[in-house]
Order: sequence, then C-alpha cells, then structure tokens
Amino acid sequence: MRHLMRFLVMGVASVAAMTASAAGPSEPPVPHNAGLPPAWAYVPIPPAAPADPNAPKPAPDTTPKRVPHSDVALTLAQIRDLHDPPDWHPDDHPPMPEIVGRGRKPGIFACAYCHLPNGQGRPENAGLAGLPAAYIVQQMADFKSGARKSAVPKLVPIMMMLNVAANAHEDDIVVAAEYFASLRFKPWIKVVESDTAPKTRVGGAMLVALEDGSREPIGARIIEVPENLTATELRDSKSGFIAYVPKGSLKKGEALALTGNKGRVTACVACHGADLQGLGPVPPLAGRSPSYIVRQLYDLRSGARAGAWSPLMKNIVAAMSDDDILNVAAYAASRAP
Ligand code: HEC
Ligand code: HEC
Repeated sequence: MRHLMRFLVMGVASVAAMTASAAGPSEPPVPHNAGLPPAWAYVPIPPAAPADPNAPKPAPDTTPKRVPHSDVALTLAQIRDLHDPPDWHPDDHPPMPEIVGRGRKPGIFACAYCHLPNGQGRPENAGLAGLPAAYIVQQMADFKSGARKSAVPKLVPIMMMLNVAANAHEDDIVVAAEYFASLRFKPWIKVVESDTAPKTRVGGAMLVALEDGSREPIGARIIEVPENLTATELRDSKSGFIAYVPKGSLKKGEALALTGNKGRVTACVACHGADLQGLGPVPPLAGRSPSYIVRQLYDLRSGARAGAWSPLMKNIVAAMSDDDILNVAAYAASRAP
C-alpha cells in the first residue's frame, strides 16, 4: 500500500480538494439505486442434467480441431487439459514460464488455461495482459488472504481462481506477474450500442448468442458474447467478443470517466490514467471486458473485494448507481487499449 500511496498522494490530494469544493464536505451520500449483482455479469453455470445410466456412452471425439490462422491441430482432450492448455498461436507471445503454461501439480492449474497464453482473458475471468506487475502481485495476495472475494459466492470460475491463489508460491506469482505485465493487451471486444441484444444461453461460464439469431430488448444490461462461438469453445486466443450495450450508455459513461459526477464520483481518469490506459500501479481499464469491470464494481461496492488498495475505490463505488456502473463499464470497454 505504501508504494501505491506514495504514487497517488499528489493526484488524490488534488482530487480530494476538487471533490470537497464541488460537493461540500458535509453533503449526504447520494441516494441511488444499488441493486443486486446482475446475472448477466455473474453468469451462473446451470446444473448439468442428470445422466441417464442406461444411455450408451458416446465415443470420445478424437478428431483434430483447428482454428483460423493457426497451423496447430489439437483434440478436445488436449484443448481441455488444465495443465497443458491449447496454444494455438505460439508466435503471438513470448515463451510461457512453467507456472503460466503448465501450472503446478497439485492445485495450480496453468494460468494460460483461463487467462489464455497471450493474457487476453475471457468474460468469466480477466484480461491480465498489460496489467502492472505490482498490481498483479497485490491482487494475488488479496485473493490468498481472503480480502478479495466475489459479491456472488460460489461462482465456479472465481472459486477456481481463489484456489489457484491459495496454492500459488510467492516466486510463481512474481514470475507470472512479470510475464503478463510484459504483454500488450490487444483490442479484443467490439462494443455495439443497440436497443436489442441477441437472446442468449449459458455456454461454459459465459453468455453465448442463440444459434437462431433471435433478439430481445436489451434493457439495462450488457450482453457480451463470443464473436465466433466455435473458436471460443476451442479456446482460440485470437477470437474476441462483442458487447451489446444500451443506446446512450457510452456518452454517459464517458462523462463519468472523464469528469466524474458533480464531485461525488471522482473522474476515473484521475487514477486510471488518461483514456483509462492505467497509471503507475493503478490498472488500465480501456478495452477490457465490460462483464469483468461490472463484477469488480459490484464486488468493491458490496465490500466483498476489500484488498489492500481497495480503499481508494471505496467512496467512488459507494456513490455509483447501477446505471453508472453499466455506463462506465460500457465506455471503458469501448476505448482502444
Ligand atoms: C480456473 C481458471 C483460472 C486459472 C487457472 C487462473 N485464474 Fe486468475 N482469474 C480467474 C477468474 C475467474 C478471475 C476473475 C475473478 C473475478 O471476476 O472477480 C481471475 C482473476 C485474476 C486476477 C485479477 C485481475 C485483475 O484485473 O484484478 C489475477 C491477477 C489473476 N487472475 C492471476 C492469475 C494467475 C497469476 C494465475 C496462474 C498462477 C491464474 N490467475 C490462474 C480464473 C483463473
Ligand atoms: C483515487 C484513485 C482512483 C479513482 C479516482 C478511481 N479508481 Fe478505480 N481503482 C483504483 C485502485 C487503486 C484500484 C485497485 C483496487 C484494489 O486493488 O482492490 C482500482 C480498481 C478499479 C477496478 C478493478 C480493476 C481490475 O482490473 O480488477 C475498476 C473496474 C475500477 N477501479 C474502475 C474505476 C472507475 C469506473 C472509476 C471512476 C468512476 C474509478 N475506478 C476511479 C483507484 C481509483
């Protein structure tokens, strides 16, 4: 915390002065709608249908699979190996350290299985590419100590992350943090403002568009789905996502991010850097998964995420409505990383 504090002391002091002059020191907190964590961001995995014991077991699919722009061919068993996950595009990233590419048995699955070898991540986890190494190390410490949890307990991907962090050794964490911090986060999510969104089902641990292409009113939701479902199911690290966001959300999110909200919500760029590109140890938000950003803001607001650096976000999220969270996540995701 001291490192972060020293870094932020100037910026936060001036931000605090701004806040005090705009809102007045004794202003009561804004009344706002602070609802429950939305299922479109914390996607629950539906329970599997009970297996029919008399049904014949299908033969395992051993045909080699391929994804666009790759010479690699892999079977489904290889694609689902938590200790040797698919690396479809080995030229896309430096050689992975053992902990990233294989993990450590028992207990630590390869980071690259969930976060992908190039660190781009998926909506149910997080993009790690380009995060500051000091920030990654701090988050691992917060997961390990139990200070960082989810506002929705028992979601499988997050429980798996907590388990990885609980078992990870200090030196593994430093090596993995340096690897992911060295990667450039690439544009990966196309943000589309629309009154409607595809109807979805849960596929794996994310929303996927129904194959029949049917749509429904978007309401107050962000619907983030794979651009190419087949490639995403094969864990292709070059096939990104489309996020449908409500009309008008980008403009409102932009105002909040750049100028804050009448002194109650500090402008995000004060700490997250110009155009949300990150600043020192404070993480970048530009171009990142809006589902992930929404989860973090609910986690922080509920107090489930209460890591060593979370106090800097505390007053900000306390004054954010559900709409603010949606709008700012949509805007952040729409910016070029
Ligand atoms: C089984 C899947 C899985 C594996 C394996 C995994 N993670 Fe994660 N990780 C997640 C999920 C899910 C989240 C997002 C949690 C949330 O939404 O709050 C996450 C979040 C993170 C974050 C927080 C990112 C941020 O912006 O704050 C860090 C850091 C991280 N993981 C590091 C690692 C490292 C390092 C490894 C390997 C040692 C690893 N993870 C392995 C699933 C995984
Ligand atoms: C006073 C500085 C400060 C301001 C202003 C600020 N943040 Fe943060 N933010 C942080 C810090 C520090 C963290 C890391 C918190 C932690 O480790 O738990 C963070 C974390 C986050 C995260 C989680 C990132 C991740 O990768 O998990 C999100 C999302 C976020 N902030 C969004 C915002 C938004 C949106 C705004 C504006 C409405 C904002 N922040 C304003 C300092 C700030």
